[in-house]
Amino acid sequence: MLLWSKWKTRYGAERLKRRIDWSGPLPQHVAIMMDGNGRWATRRGLPRTAGHVAGMHAMRETIRFCHQAQLRYLTLYAFSTENWKRPKEEVDAIIRLVHEFMTERTLGELNRNQIKVSFIGDTAKFDPDTRRIMEQAVHVTRFNMGMTVNFAVNYGGRSDIVRAVKTMVTEENGSVSIDAFESRLYTSGCPNPELLIRTSGEKRLSGFLLWQSAQAELWFTDEMWPSFNEALFYQALYEYQCRKVRANS
Ligand code: FPP
Repeated sequence: MLLWSKWKTRYGAERLKRRIDWSGPLPQHVAIMMDGNGRWATRRGLPRTAGHVAGMHAMRETIRFCHQAQLRYLTLYAFSTENWKRPKEEVDAIIRLVHEFMTERTLGELNRNQIKVSFIGDTAKFDPDTRRIMEQAVHVTRFNMGMTVNFAVNYGGRSDIVRAVKTMVTEENGSVSIDAFESRLYTSGCPNPELLIRTSGEKRLSGFLLWQSAQAELWFTDEMWPSFNEALFYQALYEYQCRKVRANS
């Protein structure tokens, strides 16, 4: 059954891949709101934390197929500033997943694929051990020249904007410009995302990359994050391309 569904996804992904014009408009930077882990789990009679574990596997696969699709930047909303309000056990379980994900084995795979890791958000709020793990992942992948994966952790778009405004005003003696502002956002150095995907049927930005998504195409799917797969990703790319071709004709 599992093999059959994997084959169906693979087949669907290959079909969609062939429909994309690889020399046509494609996003360099895709941002994803990985939503629906909790609902995915409760619908299966599992604890919400099992949904986050399944979500981490979907995240690993997504990094793989985005790299294969030669994407330049992938930003994943992993933990919002609002998520601290969840029960402590759930918050701890999500943080444990950061530790589980950033193993030597994963970092080795990221290095083999030239993938650079970055964290956006206020990481100072995490415990020292978690911060060390994040810093280590950034450090060991810092020279990679392929795709950059930004993990948004303790991230909120409004705080990102306020923080950038504050530093700009102080450092530029009150002078204000788009470039000076953007260079102080957490995403400084990355192009703005051209495509923003949200899973789980919710159709809100929930504070994700508020400034950076001003021109992004938004793509929603009813699938919960743990069910996100390559076929859905290529469908989003294909629809992005159709919208861009329509807008330019
Ligand atoms: C949203 O689903 C998902 C999260 C809050 C956590 C996502 C985290 C991971 C997939 C792993 C993080 C790992 C690293 C390395 C950064 P939800 O719980 O809001 O789902 P619901 O809307 O159904 O309740």
